[in-house]
Amino acid sequence: MFNLFKKKKEENNKGDQYISLKVREVVKETPDTVTIFFEQPEPYLEYKAGQYLTVIFDINGKEERRSYSLCTSPFVDSYPGITVKRVKDGVVSNYLNDHIRPGKTIDIMKPLGNFTTDYHSKNKRNFVMIAGGSGITPIMGITKSVLVNEPESKVTLLYCSRSEEQIIFKTELEKLEANYGDRLMVIHNLSQPSGTWTGLKGRLDASKIKDVLDSTVDVKAEGNKFFVCGPEGLMDVSLETLKGLGIPDESVLEESFYNDLEAKEKELKAEGKLSPELTREIEVTVEGEVFVFEVPAGKTILEAGLDEDVDMPYSCQSGLCTACRGRLLSGKVDMIEDAGLSQSEIDEGYILCCSSKPASSDIKIVIE
Ligand SMILES: Cc1cc2nc3c(=O)[nH]c(=O)nc-3n(C[C@H](O)[C@H](O)[C@H](O)COP(=O)(O)OP(=O)(O)OC[C@H]3O[C@@H](n4cnc5c(N)ncnc54)[C@H](O)[C@@H]3O)c2cc1C
Ligand code: FES
Repeated sequence: MFNLFKKKKEENNKGDQYISLKVREVVKETPDTVTIFFEQPEPYLEYKAGQYLTVIFDINGKEERRSYSLCTSPFVDSYPGITVKRVKDGVVSNYLNDHIRPGKTIDIMKPLGNFTTDYHSKNKRNFVMIAGGSGITPIMGITKSVLVNEPESKVTLLYCSRSEEQIIFKTELEKLEANYGDRLMVIHNLSQPSGTWTGLKGRLDASKIKDVLDSTVDVKAEGNKFFVCGPEGLMDVSLETLKGLGIPDESVLEESFYNDLEAKEKELKAEGKLSPELTREIEVTVEGEVFVFEVPAGKTILEAGLDEDVDMPYSCQSGLCTACRGRLLSGKVDMIEDAGLSQSEIDEGYILCCSSKPASSDIKIVIE
């Protein structure tokens, strides 16, 4: 494997957002999940709890980038870490589980993401976290940050896993509960528990969420914050339930790890919502450098840019993480997925290059 970070730096003499991290420790959390801790680089890695970093690998001659949320808190943990759960046949999650050892160096793009909050020691508020599977990762970092920074705030964590042995951070969560008394309540829900399990079980549904909330927090209290991260089904039922309870959208933060962009595009096409695909010439400015290139019919703006060796930033390539965010100065695009963008970003003309295709001529995009 070659050092991709160096290659990028040499090619365009920038790459401020790229660094290399040395693996300090690998901890097996469950049979199919590891946490990878990194040595602190010089200067220290700056991040907010809940952000993700992008790992960059060359696997079998192809550049692979994936986003992984930091599970650590910059206020609590000396070393930054990510937690990676295997996905069946997944290229990078299995590589990270099987091949990463202490001492190895990994190229990354510095932390990004808005699944975060600010803290103040005078705050007295309730945090409600709903997590499923590896969705616990960012929530772990945020939970630790709240507990240490806001002595009067409380956290309720509803965490869904398949079985007892699939609970990520089980021991760490127990320790936190013991240390923080009634300021942290962790409620596990298992979809396939063993016969001895006495906690919540089965699919997460609206009535379970309401029961947990009823018994733990005043959902209408001012300043409440809700964080939801997990598989699609869990996210849907959680967000609908919170909406149904009258929780304002601005109090709820969500993070998705997976999106089937192709399926979404097919759906939009079938509904007649996409423009005819034509090859278009576009102009993209990346960190002040102007590139003019063709986007062949059927390709996204990011795919075409990368084919032309334009160093456009990206991570998830599925419209979730916003690493590829750019502002449309002129022209029109079809954005297949805008889930990562807020409404105000969309109103300001921001687009996601990984999920956008040209829908007019005269397209000009600036990526800062
Ligand atoms: C902002 C963000 C933060 C993330 N944080 C984490 C994290 O903290 N921990 C973590 O383990 N993962 C996290 N992910 C997911 C991660 O980036 C990868 O998508 C995941 O590890 C799969 O990559 P892969 O290379 O193994 O699979 P791929 O080779 O990309 O995919 C293999 C196959 O599985 C499908 N697939 C991929 N992911 C899923 C999924 N989740 N559910 C169902 N099918 C899937 C693909 O469509 C494909 O068919 C995050 C994603 C985002 C966008
Ligand atoms: S690369 Fe993640 S949203 Fe485009």
